[in-house]
Amino acid sequence: MTATSAPTSSAARVILAVGGGIAAYKSAALCSRLAQAGCEVRVAMSKAATEFVGPATFAALSGHPVATDSFAPDRWPLGPHIELADGARLMIVAPATAQLIGQFAHGLAGDLIATLYLQAECPVLLAPAMSGVMWEKAAVRRNIDRLRDDGCQFVGPDQGWLSCRRSGAGRMSEPEQIAAQALAMIHVD
Ligand SMILES: Cc1cc2nc3c(=O)[nH]c(=O)nc-3n(C[C@H](O)[C@H](O)[C@H](O)COP(=O)(O)O)c2cc1C
Repeated sequence: MTATSAPTSSAARVILAVGGGIAAYKSAALCSRLAQAGCEVRVAMSKAATEFVGPATFAALSGHPVATDSFAPDRWPLGPHIELADGARLMIVAPATAQLIGQFAHGLAGDLIATLYLQAECPVLLAPAMSGVMWEKAAVRRNIDRLRDDGCQFVGPDQGWLSCRRSGAGRMSEPEQIAAQALAMIHVD
């Protein structure tokens, strides 16, 4: 059998922003799926996300350095939010935590991913993940409505088993489902 590699020329650049939820482990499979589809996947992780999955996993799966900090002048002279957003066709946020959703909805730029969201000129796809109680909270509902009005697209969350050991709404959609919606948004099969 002959080994094949994903196409790299004129690949669609996709930002994968990973928030700090337990579902971050599923975003590793999402990263791999997007890379196998021929996307140039550029990963940004929040500080909390690195508590759940190591940046090395995403670096290996994407084939590119992972941004975890706004202030890393050796690697990102213009700032990673500028360099990652430049030329991106899509920004995926998976898992989209309550914290990130709140920052986006209020136009805050308190960390790398929130700043990247404000800098992004491309469509944004959010894959929320949180406990059912958090998902139903009035403040979260308001923030979701506001982001829909702002033009963000959503995938999930699904119903199912949650890490809070209850079933309900708040489970991040499966990587294949997120990838399918993302690839449809950038017109890649
Ligand atoms: C074990 C554990 C699991 C968590 N899971 C989630 C989650 O699924 N969704 C969420 O919104 N927050 C979750 N949190 C809380 C976030 O990690 C916390 O709000 C953090 O500040 C989010 O930062 P970020 O949005 O910058 O990644 C969890 C925290 C812990 C300790």
